[in-house]
Amino acid sequence: MKKQLIAALILIGATGIAQAAGDATAGKGKAAACAACHMADGNSMIPNFPKLAGQHESYIVKQLTEFKAGTRKDATMLGMTAALSEQDMADIGAFFASQSASIGSANAEKAAMGKTIYQAGNKQSGLSACMACHGPAGKGNAGAKFPTLGGQHSAYTIKQLKDFRSGSRSNVMMNDIAAKMSDAEIDASAEFIQGLH
Ligand code: HEC
Ligand code: HEC
Repeated sequence: MKKQLIAALILIGATGIAQAAGDATAGKGKAAACAACHMADGNSMIPNFPKLAGQHESYIVKQLTEFKAGTRKDATMLGMTAALSEQDMADIGAFFASQSASIGSANAEKAAMGKTIYQAGNKQSGLSACMACHGPAGKGNAGAKFPTLGGQHSAYTIKQLKDFRSGSRSNVMMNDIAAKMSDAEIDASAEFIQGLH
């Protein structure tokens, strides 16, 4: 009895660890419904819709799972994920990850403070450097599910940082980071990130 239970637990554990690997070719077809807002190649042209091109598959899957579960709250994305299976999410994630991200541009003057924060944080408020997790060129870290940020629309980045700050989007690391940011620091960081590559 006890042995069977342990065997079952090991099996559940093993299937839990073996995350379905995405198939980018299958994902391309499944992503057709996303093109209206994110564009076919994931390089959204509209600042409120995030660019997905070049984003890590692992991070995309995590976000889609959270939208579907309602733990990341967005009415549009709740609807868009309702019918997606785990395999669909992995395939779509693999497809967008395989696309090359378009490069954005930043106003150097507006981005100056953002560059300092991104690379060195703010010692006075105890704000960590963004670079520590998101990387010097904003490429993030696929294994750790740290998203790629470089080239992202500043309007989207500003909304996310404010959502993390208010707690309406939850993530232990980013809630702590955003809580230490002023509006001016959020605006400047988002401007710098838009031009980062
Ligand atoms: C009607 C417009 C619309 C459509 C269609 C749409 N999305 Fe989105 N998507 C959004 C918006 C708006 C957000 C940002 C939500 C927020 O502010 O948190 C978003 C966010 C996302 C994110 C989070 C990105 C990040 O960097 O955290 C992913 C992943 C995503 N969408 C994937 C998809 C996929 C896959 C589809 C198709 C199955 C899709 N979206 C269809 C509007 C749309
Ligand atoms: C300790 C690691 C860490 C540090 C330092 C950090 N981040 Fe993050 N960041 C994360 C993680 C993890 C996520 C993904 C959260 C999730 O899964 O929803 C994230 C997500 C984000 C997102 C959302 C991206 C998207 O596509 O929706 C933005 C924007 C962001 N970080 C900006 C920043 C900025 C700006 C700084 C510096 C002031 C910073 N981060 C510092 C770990 C970090």
